[in-house]
Amino acid sequence: MISIKSEREISLMREAGKRLKETFAEIEKHLKVGITTKEIDEIAHDYIIQNDCIPSCLGYEGYPATICISINDEVVHGIPRNYKIKNGDIVSCDIVLSYKGYHADATRTYIIGTVSKEIIDLVENTKKAFYAGVSKVREGVRVKEISKAIEDYAHLHNLSVVEELVGHGIGTEMHEEPDIPNFDTNNNTRLKAGMVICIEPMLNLGSKEVYLCEDEWTVKTCDGKYSSHYENTVLVTKDGYEILTEENINGEKKKCSK
Ligand code: MF3
Ligand code: CO
Repeated sequence: MISIKSEREISLMREAGKRLKETFAEIEKHLKVGITTKEIDEIAHDYIIQNDCIPSCLGYEGYPATICISINDEVVHGIPRNYKIKNGDIVSCDIVLSYKGYHADATRTYIIGTVSKEIIDLVENTKKAFYAGVSKVREGVRVKEISKAIEDYAHLHNLSVVEELVGHGIGTEMHEEPDIPNFDTNNNTRLKAGMVICIEPMLNLGSKEVYLCEDEWTVKTCDGKYSSHYENTVLVTKDGYEILTEENINGEKKKCSK
């Protein structure tokens, strides 16, 4: 069963999204060479709590931190630790919080200092792959149309798509139905206005193969090449979508591109 949110629930999810955007703005002030990923995690933790929110990942299936910070060849679920961020790193921060029982989930990958053109393109094209997917969203769209748009965009730019992890519905639970894969599937599920989903492409410079590290959380690329991740929480509307965790350009809600 995919939940349809009421107007009241949508207002609370908008509020959760707003507070998540503010959390990113806060950590961005501190994301510099020399800071440890553990320090970033502590800043996010304190900010979320002060903002009347709860860090959703902390304690989720035993996860030991507030945010997931994944560097370079780490794809997702990196555990904040005593690692000092270096010039040339790409740092993905995946943050989930809840406000009055409603979750918002987003990921940004930040470039620290100087990196090659290839890596700049990886990070930008992962964001654009998210937009290729979200631009399909409206009432009645099938999940697989979103998935295919993301995959096609990635392949057009010579990037591979991680298949072990997928986007998801969100609401009173961090992970709800339906799954939103970033690759072509047979998922004929149709979206309805009032559903809220997370679209989150994870794209690799090299092969799509990934493995789970010994810490049982961190997922890395098998070939050691860099990976990027971009995610937003998105409300489905009658004729398009509203991104709850990012500034909508001109403050407008978007109509989908057919
Ligand atoms: N945004 C991540 C996801 O959708 C959140 C993982 S939380 C963790 O899978 F607790 F599993 F780390
Ligand atoms: Co997510």
